[in-house]
Amino acid sequence: HDEAPMTKNKQQPCVIAHRGASGYVPEHTLMAKGIAHAMGADFIEQDVVLSRDGVPVVSHDVHLDTVTDVAKVFPHRRRSDGRYYVIDFTVAELKTLSIYERFDRVSGNPVFPTRYPTGEGEFRIVTLAEELRFIQNLNRTTGREAGVYPEIKRPLWHREQGMEITPVVLRVLAEFGYANPEDRCFLQCFDSEEVVAVRKRHGYRGRLIQLIGSGHDVESGTDYNRLKSHEGLAEIAKVVDGIGPSLPAVLTTIEEEGDSQLVSTGLTEMAHSFGLLVHPWTFRADALPSVVSSSQACLDACFQTVGIDGLFADQPDAVVRYLRSL
Ligand code: G3P
Ligand code: CA
Repeated sequence: HDEAPMTKNKQQPCVIAHRGASGYVPEHTLMAKGIAHAMGADFIEQDVVLSRDGVPVVSHDVHLDTVTDVAKVFPHRRRSDGRYYVIDFTVAELKTLSIYERFDRVSGNPVFPTRYPTGEGEFRIVTLAEELRFIQNLNRTTGREAGVYPEIKRPLWHREQGMEITPVVLRVLAEFGYANPEDRCFLQCFDSEEVVAVRKRHGYRGRLIQLIGSGHDVESGTDYNRLKSHEGLAEIAKVVDGIGPSLPAVLTTIEEEGDSQLVSTGLTEMAHSFGLLVHPWTFRADALPSVVSSSQACLDACFQTVGIDGLFADQPDAVVRYLRSL
């Protein structure tokens, strides 16, 4: 990965099920992953954090209180900031919780009102290993191989809690055969120092994605504006296979003769010039970015105007259908 960037080899764009088919059933449940698989997603995402016993578990947040009934089951295990943390519970304890559709911690209202009813259903937290086994079993039974797309969540925060998340995640991935560039896996992280460490210190050879947020990340010190610049992309291209920016970082509007038109911000073209793939997040049919008027307009702009290489989607079926219609 130290040599000059490869010429980009344009392939059919991929569909990444964001936290599974999370637009239909609660995120990061095996049900959401199974539905995503059946919908034809090319990759299925796992956000990964550590439990108290050091096991990688699949959860978007390091805390539990906006997607589970933890406050009812373990009312006394709250930290002084009022929150419940995955890292304070063993896997056996986490398994006693129910996962619910995401809700607001203060009001209790659902974040996405038209999604699966909050508080209903029998869904459980899974470990990374359990989920990888589930996806690989589905790959066998259906004969269609969906890939995986794990994200190492908040490595510095884990370190402050006395745990190293990266080596544990890499070990589990290797056990399941995800370690080399040809394996159907993209490993992702927001923290750019950790991304470099994954490649250089831990010697990970699989495909790697630098996630890009907005501004300057206070926790990790990652400067996303620099990462989006020519110099930043040139540097990170020596280490990663692609970038994962937000949708507004790749798509914007201009006014032309009184009409507003969706255009590329230029980030995708610049990333492509360094041989980097571009996988933005997140297509949500029920919460489109303010600059787009419909799912069709959003997908046309992403795939035809901008030319992205893959898209994270809460409704992967909509993107699969769209790409098949081209
Ligand atoms: O990892 C891509 C996308 O999922 C990043 O945002 O907050 O949903 O993990 P988040
Ligand atoms: Ca993620």
